[in-house]
Amino acid sequence: MRPPLLQLGALLSSMAVISNWMSQTLPALVGRNTSRLWPPDASTQVSPKEGWQVYSSAQDPDGRCICTVVAPEQNLCSRDAKSRQLRQLLEKVQNMSQSIEVLNLRTQRDFQYVLKMETQMKGLKAKFRQIEDDRKTLMTKHFQELKEKMDELLPLIPVLEQYKTDARLITQFKEEIRNLSAVLTGIQEELGAYDYEELHLRVLSLETRLRDCMKKLTCGKLMKITGPITVKTSGTRFGAWMTDPLASEKNNRVWYMDSYTNNKIVREYKSMADFVSGAESRTYNLPFKWAGTNHVVYNGSLYFNKYQSNIVIKYSFDLGRVLAQRSLENAGFQNVYPYTWGGFSDIDLMADEIGLWAVYATNQNAGNIVISQLNPDTLEVAKSWNTGYPKRSAGESFMICGTLYVTNSHLTGAKVYYSYSTKTSSYEYTDIPFHNQYFHISMLDYNARDRALYAWNNGHQVLFNVTLFHIIKTEDDT
Ligand SMILES: *[C@@H]1O[C@H](CO)[C@@H](O)[C@H](O)[C@H]1NC(C)=O
Ligand SMILES: *[C@@H]1O[C@H](CO)[C@@H](O)[C@H](O)[C@H]1NC(C)=O
Ligand SMILES: *[C@@H]1O[C@H](CO)[C@@H](O)[C@H](O)[C@H]1NC(C)=O
Ligand SMILES: *[C@@H]1O[C@H](CO)[C@@H](O)[C@H](O)[C@H]1NC(C)=O
Ligand SMILES: *[C@@H]1O[C@H](CO)[C@@H](O)[C@H](O)[C@H]1NC(C)=O
Repeated sequence: MRPPLLQLGALLSSMAVISNWMSQTLPALVGRNTSRLWPPDASTQVSPKEGWQVYSSAQDPDGRCICTVVAPEQNLCSRDAKSRQLRQLLEKVQNMSQSIEVLNLRTQRDFQYVLKMETQMKGLKAKFRQIEDDRKTLMTKHFQELKEKMDELLPLIPVLEQYKTDARLITQFKEEIRNLSAVLTGIQEELGAYDYEELHLRVLSLETRLRDCMKKLTCGKLMKITGPITVKTSGTRFGAWMTDPLASEKNNRVWYMDSYTNNKIVREYKSMADFVSGAESRTYNLPFKWAGTNHVVYNGSLYFNKYQSNIVIKYSFDLGRVLAQRSLENAGFQNVYPYTWGGFSDIDLMADEIGLWAVYATNQNAGNIVISQLNPDTLEVAKSWNTGYPKRSAGESFMICGTLYVTNSHLTGAKVYYSYSTKTSSYEYTDIPFHNQYFHISMLDYNARDRALYAWNNGHQVLFNVTLFHIIKTEDDT
């Protein structure tokens, strides 16, 4: 990169020298203000710093993840500017070449005339000298007048000489322009090819890094829970409400399932605003009653625990029918292993960045929490993890990035007390408080799209923000 640019710098200064001459000489000759083409406006300084930089902050004050990509503004853009500048220069040189051609045609004609004039005048001069020598014999008044006129004309000779010099300069300049033009074209081609390759590589590298960054950013460790914001106050003390984490950005349907038993009516709202105002768009009458409040909507389907069973049902809203149902093997149900508040909350279905999960307890695991990853189509258990945390001592639990977070109570003073990573099959005691504003939580679920916790807080539908901690290595430029 550097050699061509340095070369360009040198060229620019030599062009500037020429341009000085141009601006002084050409306007007078061609009546065209060529100086306005000069000087080239961009600096020829080259910044040595190169490379894309991907910065990411752990979180902003609102708990949102931020990924900042800093393009190598200075150098890439300046290189871009240099290419552009080169292109402009080239164009200018070509334009000037054209001007020179025009000028040349004109001066060629004038020059011929001047040459003729000069010869004539020189001839005249010689003739007069001759006549002067013979002045004794030819002493006429007329002669003196003629001589005086001739003397007036004499200063014209150096002017014409100068004109000739100028013409020579123009010729030389033409050649220089032609040379320069060729060099510039060469540089442009070289630079163009280099830039394309470089740019392509950089874009590829950027893409990889961005994907990497996003992957790391979408997952992190829970650090803080902020809020809540009370979205609505409605329903009984126990219930569930949710949005679909896999829905598209503009699809923000809200589903509302009041009470933990004896109900099979799901209310749907087109948007959060409709939910707040109570403008229902649809209701679904499920073929079975649900148990508890730990349902989840995932990819357009509702997953819920069928009343008085450990059967998980997948119900498609669009098709209005059950797509799959399967018993969660050994899972306790009917208040055998509920959360602290009871309410048939034995089986908790949830979704995170990784997929669909069921959280429950079994006799085999001594009533401690079991985490199972479910196949969202068949409801088969893909893999299970046995934790050591007693389900009946858990207030609620939710999954973020494959880590289960368990609260120690559903009452005031509740905090996230325990976490279990399915990635490392290890647990940790935590101390992450959150504001249990209405003193009783019967549902708490993470929504990966909104990066929020949806909660049913004693007949209030509330949202918490979460702050996830990410460690991102900022890679050096390749
Ligand atoms: C030529 O252009 C320069 C720069 O734009 C300007 O300063 C100058 O007045 C112009 N001269 C004429 C004769 O137009
Ligand atoms: C060169 O000339 C063309 C046409 O005369 C004009 O459009 C263009 O702007 C000129 N380029 C430069 C760099 O002056
Ligand atoms: C133009 O280039 C030729 C060949 O490289 C060189 O001989 C000549 O001196 C150059 N002319 C000028 C005016 O630089
Ligand atoms: C969501 O459902 C669509 C079809 O409706 C399917 O193509 C897609 O793979 C599903 N996504 C996940 C993550 O299951
Ligand atoms: C979460 O953060 C977003 C973005 O700053 C903000 O608009 C929203 O009100 C916050 N929600 C809660 C529950 O704090």
